[in-house]
Amino acid sequence: MHRLFIPLLAIITAFSLSGPSQASGKTTLSPKELLGKQLFFDAKLSVPEGQSCASCHAPEAGFTGPHEGINKAGAAYEGATKGRFGNRKPPTSSYGGDSPVLRFDRKEKAWVGGMFWDGRATGRKLKDPLAEQAQGPFLNPLEQNIPDARTLCMAVKDSTYASLFEQVWGKGSLDCDRNVSVTYDRIGKSIAAYERSKEANPFRSKYDSWLGKKVKLTDQELQGLKLFEGKGKCAECHPSKRGPNGTPPLFTDFTYDNLGIPKNPENPFYGMPARWNPEGAAFVDTGLGGYLKEAGYKPSQYDPETGKFKVPTLRNVDRRPSPGFVKAFGHNGYFKSLEEIVHFYNTRDVLGRCEKLSDPRPGENCWPEPEVPANLNREELGNLGLTGKEEEAIVAFMRTLSDGYSVEK
Ligand code: HEC
Ligand code: HEC
Repeated sequence: MHRLFIPLLAIITAFSLSGPSQASGKTTLSPKELLGKQLFFDAKLSVPEGQSCASCHAPEAGFTGPHEGINKAGAAYEGATKGRFGNRKPPTSSYGGDSPVLRFDRKEKAWVGGMFWDGRATGRKLKDPLAEQAQGPFLNPLEQNIPDARTLCMAVKDSTYASLFEQVWGKGSLDCDRNVSVTYDRIGKSIAAYERSKEANPFRSKYDSWLGKKVKLTDQELQGLKLFEGKGKCAECHPSKRGPNGTPPLFTDFTYDNLGIPKNPENPFYGMPARWNPEGAAFVDTGLGGYLKEAGYKPSQYDPETGKFKVPTLRNVDRRPSPGFVKAFGHNGYFKSLEEIVHFYNTRDVLGRCEKLSDPRPGENCWPEPEVPANLNREELGNLGLTGKEEEAIVAFMRTLSDGYSVEK
């Protein structure tokens, strides 16, 4: 389907981006944030060496996957060990620091918080989902593949920033024989500090400048914002307004929904050996419900959540290393452009099912069936009645959310 859409991306305007430190307004990091940054970018912290957090969360791609070939296809990234793939697309690792500890909100009757697409880094252990999440990839055999926390501790002890670690956490804090679990927690907390830093969350987009009344949005961007908050219903899950204390909008409410995104048939996980993927080609990603089931909740608790995934922030959703660079969208990277996903929101329930057609052209005359048909959200999407021009305006608005914007003098 992905080739059907004309790469409108080619006309993105100039305010794309450089590396982690923005062109204007260099940020300074606290020692703890700097330590977290060293850990985040250290490709020695994997077995074999060569993979860091940034390998899958690169600043120039908005802290998500920087390999176009992967984004165009299965969208799941290979771990440090050849041939081992995870089953999901990397979401951005920035702007997630305010996600609360995972809980069921009785008033809203909805799960909220945690990290990962399915919330399984709940944050209950460290009282901080982001710090808890940061501990996962190092020891995940499908990611950085370090055998245990002690080996990770030893690698940090051998690193060029070992003294910075001791400066932040105290003399003797890198004793890997006595203190491993404490050290492991501190590694997570340091990375979380970097992920929450001004450098990773600069709030320096055109939209932020517009909120600060420093710049005008174009007519199309303004129309897009209006649709985003109105007819398109996007802001119902991706809030665009400032928080109660004037905090800048994060474009996520940290809740979960099943949008009915189809399977991504190119996901390399389908071909993984039974040890990692016992279901093979029949694998279904059940999201939050799957996690709750595994964690021992009752069917009455996990069934209604099956197929739901966490609402991601839309900050930097269009941030790319170069204008035509392809990014993948959704938990399995099924969508390859913002145009496609907006068209899906607009027409999911209008176009027929591809499975029923002899000449299926996804996005044109049909959409494939949802990966999980249960618990579909039918209230806020599926048939929005947007015109082509309106879809384009919403995309234009989302492009104003990329950091690295500077107001011309
Ligand atoms: C091999 C690629 C890969 C590597 C290496 C990797 N990640 Fe990820 N990251 C992912 C994928 C895929 C997900 C989503 C997984 C899921 O939801 O099950 C993810 C999820 C996350 C999230 C959750 C974001 C959210 O909104 O829920 C954060 C934060 C994150 N990673 C940070 C890190 C850090 C820190 C490291 C290094 C310690 C790291 N990642 C290493 C691929 C990677
Ligand atoms: C009912 C809540 C809800 C509404 C309404 C909603 N979204 Fe989403 N959005 C989500 C969820 C949940 C995901 C992740 C779903 C998944 O991957 O299965 C998502 C994912 C996305 C992504 C992919 C981001 C990424 O990093 O992969 C984009 C882009 C997006 N939404 C834009 C929009 C736009 C534009 C609208 C309005 C037309 C909108 N959303 C309306 C909940 C919502």
